[in-house]
Amino acid sequence: MKLARMAILVVFALLVFVWLASGQAPSSRPRSDEDGLALTPPMGWYPWNQFGQEPQNEQLIKDMADALIRGGMKDAGYTYIGPDEGICFSRDANGKLTSNLERYPSGLGGLGDYIHGLGLKYALYTDAGTHTCSKAMPGTKGHEFEDMQAFADWRADYVKVDWCNTTGQNPAEAYARLRDAQLAAGRPIVFSLCSWGEGQPWEWAAAVGHLWRTTGDICEPGKASWGNAMKNTEANEKLYRAAGPGHWNDPDMLINGMSGLSEAQNRSFFSLWCVMASPLIAGNDLRSMTEATMRILTNREAIGIDQDPLGIQGRVVRRDGQVEIWAGKRLFDGSQAVLAFNRGAASAQVQVTPGDVGMEESAQFYARDLWAHRTAGPHVGGIRVTIAPSDVALLRISKADDFPLPPVLVADSYRAVLSASAKAPRELTKAITVRNNGSGVLALWKVRPGLPKWLSVTVSQRGNTQSFANKVSTAGLAPGHYHALVRADNREPLSGLAMSAFYYDVDLDVE
Ligand code: GLA
Repeated sequence: MKLARMAILVVFALLVFVWLASGQAPSSRPRSDEDGLALTPPMGWYPWNQFGQEPQNEQLIKDMADALIRGGMKDAGYTYIGPDEGICFSRDANGKLTSNLERYPSGLGGLGDYIHGLGLKYALYTDAGTHTCSKAMPGTKGHEFEDMQAFADWRADYVKVDWCNTTGQNPAEAYARLRDAQLAAGRPIVFSLCSWGEGQPWEWAAAVGHLWRTTGDICEPGKASWGNAMKNTEANEKLYRAAGPGHWNDPDMLINGMSGLSEAQNRSFFSLWCVMASPLIAGNDLRSMTEATMRILTNREAIGIDQDPLGIQGRVVRRDGQVEIWAGKRLFDGSQAVLAFNRGAASAQVQVTPGDVGMEESAQFYARDLWAHRTAGPHVGGIRVTIAPSDVALLRISKADDFPLPPVLVADSYRAVLSASAKAPRELTKAITVRNNGSGVLALWKVRPGLPKWLSVTVSQRGNTQSFANKVSTAGLAPGHYHALVRADNREPLSGLAMSAFYYDVDLDVE
């Protein structure tokens, strides 16, 4: 009897231990497990690299959003756009953030609506310290909860939080507090930590945000630096183990299309960022891009490497003279990415072998050149590639002569707007459509339950486009503004892995 009681006690103690241990677990789980955000590296445009602070204003952001669409970048997957440190807001006497209406006449909420209406997502910027770097804007220190509420009210989808003016602050603590503030504000937002590697965010930030800068700034505004690009590449390469779906190393924004790089360097830079599964946040002036820059930024086959659902960061597996062979990046269809990067000043030849990608040396394989867009093979043994100085060969190696592209989602809008009169209750429908520009056909998106009573959503499919019909019934609704954030989930069909959750806003005005 005594023994039985002891056994019960031991089992009970064990259960308590397991319960306590599991209670601890959520804090170390990737944040994206819950919000489903950024399961592939975020893509978009920020003004800092080209413009710095001064010329940033509403018109510039709107012009860039339009240019991004015109240049085919939206179709290639670039989505997040908005001001960086561009004197967007100040703090009023009550501690509340208010938009700078001189520079942003529609207010930061109005600019967000414009961007959402284009089928793009809204990115904003702030700082974890007392002020932003230029001291022109207030930082979040001591105002974390109010400020993250303001960002949610402005309908931001992405927030970059800088690390200037943080004397005495600890990055892990400060950023965790901002994460808590974002969760309290209730709007799922991609959280981009920008401590330039301070506090070693790759060790803890997956539970806090979705990407973290691993290095200092890649350039001074307006001038690309090849030396800095190489420095950032080397530092970021070492951290490959920390990257994965929903939590990315960020070696800084793109410098493609800025003055200071040759065409070969532009191609190499973009290839390196893709092989490192880095966020692809363009930083050039999209209104005056050359054809060559546009071709690089919208190379869907290179982007497919970056946006691969497995989310593996490639690394240097060997060196042959001045040539680095980057591999270790298995892709969703079982193929492998390989990058041969010539860091030297003379043209070089190297042999890329099946062994570089973990295949037996006698394996028969096809090699697709992702810049020439040509497949060669079948080969047995290695293939010899010739690479110009500072240039690359970006290859995809597969046993099959088939190179599918992962999903690329292109929405017509991220905001459905409806209005009705309270005097005449009505049923209204407004659709949001989303096209998959990747190779496969997606299953129907599953809308998360828990929508407000006045809204129901039905999803239908036609070819590679799905339509979310938002049906609104205004019966019984008092005059006022009603809002819902719809979330839908899906899986990439080849790998079966979760895709980034699809979110959009529904606004209903009852007059
Ligand atoms: C830091 C960041 C940059 C940019 C500037 C703005 O230097 O690393 O990317 O946001 O601040 O001042």
